[in-house]
Amino acid sequence: MNHFDYVNGQMQAESVKIADIAARVGTPFYCYSTATLQRHYKVFAQALADAGLDAQICFALKANSNIAVIRTFAELGAGADVVSEGELRRALAAGVPADKIVFSGVGKTEAELVLAVSKGIMQVNVESEPELEALSKIAAERGVRMPVSIRVNPDVDAGTHAKITTGKKENKFGIEWTRAHEVYTKARALPGIDVVGVACHIGSQLTEVEPFRQAFLRVRDLVAMLRADGFDIRRLDVGGGLGIPYESEEPPHPDVYAKAIKDTLGDLGCKIVLEPGRLLVGNAGILVSTVIYVKEGATRTFLIADAAMNDLMRPALYEAHHTIEPVTQPKADAPRQPVDVVGPVCETGDTFAKQRSLPPIKPGDLIVFRTAGAYGAAMSSTYNTRPLVPEVLVNGADYAVVRARPSFDEMLALESVPDWLK
Ligand code: LLP
Repeated sequence: MNHFDYVNGQMQAESVKIADIAARVGTPFYCYSTATLQRHYKVFAQALADAGLDAQICFALKANSNIAVIRTFAELGAGADVVSEGELRRALAAGVPADKIVFSGVGKTEAELVLAVSKGIMQVNVESEPELEALSKIAAERGVRMPVSIRVNPDVDAGTHAKITTGKKENKFGIEWTRAHEVYTKARALPGIDVVGVACHIGSQLTEVEPFRQAFLRVRDLVAMLRADGFDIRRLDVGGGLGIPYESEEPPHPDVYAKAIKDTLGDLGCKIVLEPGRLLVGNAGILVSTVIYVKEGATRTFLIADAAMNDLMRPALYEAHHTIEPVTQPKADAPRQPVDVVGPVCETGDTFAKQRSLPPIKPGDLIVFRTAGAYGAAMSSTYNTRPLVPEVLVNGADYAVVRARPSFDEMLALESVPDWLK
């Protein structure tokens, strides 16, 4: 469900014509729908409430870290899951209360831990023994005990793309669940650590509920073991990872996911912390681009767009599918032809789609890449000295540029020529 639809033959974001935004902002740009963001959050929150869970949703900023997007969720009660100093600063700047912020990640620096402690965030999800010791030292020096969940690696196959699976024992994440008890025992002895919970996150874009259940059952066993040993486990962070439909996937509805949490962890009396990213923002964003040329190659036709792999990396990185549609609605009987949709970047990997069946599209036409709200703008780069593309947030009939396109002067001003080259 999203709010990007054709109205009178023209694609709109809510009540705003995409073509109107393009005329003002220029392409490429990302466009987000407030109504879709809000809807996704509410459906997810309602599913958790209906299952009778005491839950805190901490939006995973890595999926989309635009401050206006974060604030949209914060207004609905969301916290934040952050993985860097930059994300922590963004969450705070967007108005997320510190006591709703979870700090995840396998390699937090000392500076990051100092910031987390000094801001008094809800909890740090610790992923290794050296990190536990570093955090304890920092907290103890400041006279506090930092609330900590230890991220366990349940060794469960999430059945997702190899590059985004995180809960297998060969992955770099968390502490092997078989060793977790030992590490909790060490944590308890540290002066700056207050052990409050268990965390796990097994991967992203999961389209089945079963791997979640398996992981949660392992968490459940661990909680029983820890409680028997006197630990006061009161929070369970179940991570993110619930998938969305990009093409023909049929991921479980939030109700099914919430029920799996309820069935496996619901009777433990713990607060459930969730870190959804993609689910909340994926379908709430599109990337809008102009076709620059249509090139007839030796064996195929190329649509060359002004967006490129640096703007939306997912196809190049994971061979991910993004539905491509023209902004002007094609006639129902328009002939379709297989084309390769590519960007201008100088490598073959800069391909959004191969042999995609599309209606006639000519140079100058606007096209959209759907389901680009998650890991789109957030993963973009300036490769080929292409400026980061603007982000636009639509709200009903209103819209605002929520991140401006940097000028070339601004980009070049970050660099300098050393004395010996002057
Ligand atoms: N929590 C932790 C600890 C994570 O590592 C992640 C994602 C999330 C939550 C949010 O997961 P989500 O609900 O969005 O699935 N760039 C890739 C996805 C990388 C996911 C990394 N971790 C992509 O474009 O598919």
